[in-house]
Amino acid sequence: MSFQDPPVITPSGWIEHGPFAAWLVEATSPDLLVELGTHWGYSFFAFCEAVRTLGLDTRCVAIDTWEGDEHAGFYSDEVHDYVASVAKGYGSTATMMRMRFDQAVGSFEDGSIDVLHIDGRHLYEDAVEDFDTYLPKMSDRGVVVMHDIVERGHGFGVWRHWVELKDRYPTFEFRHEHGLGVVAVGHDAPEAIGRLTSLGEDSAEADQVRRMYSQLGRAISGAEGMRRAEELQTALAAANERLQHTTDAIARQAAGRELTLLRTVRDLERDVREARHLTPSLFKGLLRERLRAEGVRLLDSQGPEQTMRDQLAALFDADYYAAQHPELAPEEATFEHYVENGWPAHESPTPLIDPVWYLAVNPDVAAAGIPAVDHYLIFGESEARDPNAVFDSSWYRRQHAQDLAPGELALTRFATVGHQEGHDPSPAFHTKWYLDRYPEVADSGRIALSDYLRDGALKGRDPHPDFDTVWYIAANADLCRDGTNPLVHYLTFGLEENHATNAAGAHLCDPTTEAN
Ligand SMILES: C[S@@+](CC[C@H](N)C(=O)[O-])C[C@H]1O[C@@H](n2cnc3c(N)ncnc32)[C@H](O)[C@@H]1O
Repeated sequence: MSFQDPPVITPSGWIEHGPFAAWLVEATSPDLLVELGTHWGYSFFAFCEAVRTLGLDTRCVAIDTWEGDEHAGFYSDEVHDYVASVAKGYGSTATMMRMRFDQAVGSFEDGSIDVLHIDGRHLYEDAVEDFDTYLPKMSDRGVVVMHDIVERGHGFGVWRHWVELKDRYPTFEFRHEHGLGVVAVGHDAPEAIGRLTSLGEDSAEADQVRRMYSQLGRAISGAEGMRRAEELQTALAAANERLQHTTDAIARQAAGRELTLLRTVRDLERDVREARHLTPSLFKGLLRERLRAEGVRLLDSQGPEQTMRDQLAALFDADYYAAQHPELAPEEATFEHYVENGWPAHESPTPLIDPVWYLAVNPDVAAAGIPAVDHYLIFGESEARDPNAVFDSSWYRRQHAQDLAPGELALTRFATVGHQEGHDPSPAFHTKWYLDRYPEVADSGRIALSDYLRDGALKGRDPHPDFDTVWYIAANADLCRDGTNPLVHYLTFGLEENHATNAAGAHLCDPTTEAN
């Protein structure tokens, strides 16, 4: 059993004890195994996996607040949700109790626990309290394993308790991976445990056992190190590719722009030659018309023409613009600043238009050198293009045709009135559900879709009842590692490849279908 690979490798200071966890389960065949302190679940799932491999009926119970502590650090619900999703795979073998250790103890009968793993907070007082609280619950065959017995820094005090226990019980200690102590607390310990604890502290046999488990453990952590290095390499290659892609797009844009401008100058010269009879205002109108048709900005400092300016103003999201420009004081992040600085630099006024995505899925626009924001507002929507991966312009237009004023863009309608009325940007994003589930977003006044695209996904928020952001990232770690928004990833690749969108194997409704 000691050669069994652990089922999942999560961040943990316990990695190298995986082989011993498997041996321990085989040596004790416990009816009930309880763990105090599970975090991402590495040790817990090492126990569960051994139970499965051996075909035992053991009940494994993980107890944790899943909030963290001063030693492990504090963390969010995503950790609990991840552990729950893996635990599901072990059926009735694995039970989770989300509460404090002292609150859970009443759930166990005296003399019922065969293996107890203590790995909570590591102050001396914690170590003593956890041990003493659970001691009456240990069976006659009971074995306690406790982590961090050799750690002496950062206020760790398990080692002091360990020294005391060595005088009271038969014990064995591993010193690698922060140390793991084995205590035979029951007077009728399983035979294999008896053999282990009788090896003494520093006998040649004890050293041999320690060396063997340390080497087996290092095989796992070493392989994991290699895997992480490979992951980093892949992520780096993906980042380089994206950088290259963006650089190419910018170069294409610049080249296209230059050509367009040359053509425009040539046309202007011709107009000047031919239009001597036009009045100056008619002449200017003619020029503007041509420039607009080509999607090119005026070269002078007049900024966007009025229609474009109105569109930009309706979409302008000051909070988003301020976040893009940390160098500005909040009151400086105004629409005027955007028009004078952001717009000429091809920045988007809103997270709802994603220039990088737009140019990537519309290579003809990138090749023509027309800025994404301008192209979408002038041509994009009428050509059934979308401003980001989640907003489906044509679908939205069909759903709300009767509300749209002549010439009004679906995106503008959504960003100004539609989102307040709870409209969805596409069947893949559920606005009302999102705001109900995350009232802090509703309170912030953000458009729900903007929130998800900006940092909602990073915070583990779900865009739709059938789409589990954290699960999707975990299930597609190789694809999402480069930081792609998981829903954007799903709509761009996952949907076509029939990826599931949550642990229950759901598939998000096909966004090309009509809503009821
Ligand atoms: C060191 S981590 C556990 C590591 C885990 N065994 C592994 O394999 O990686 C400690 C965990 O104990 C939990 N914890 C600490 N004190 C606790 C208490 N009194 N009640 C419940 N959970 C507690 C923390 O939330 C944290 O997740």
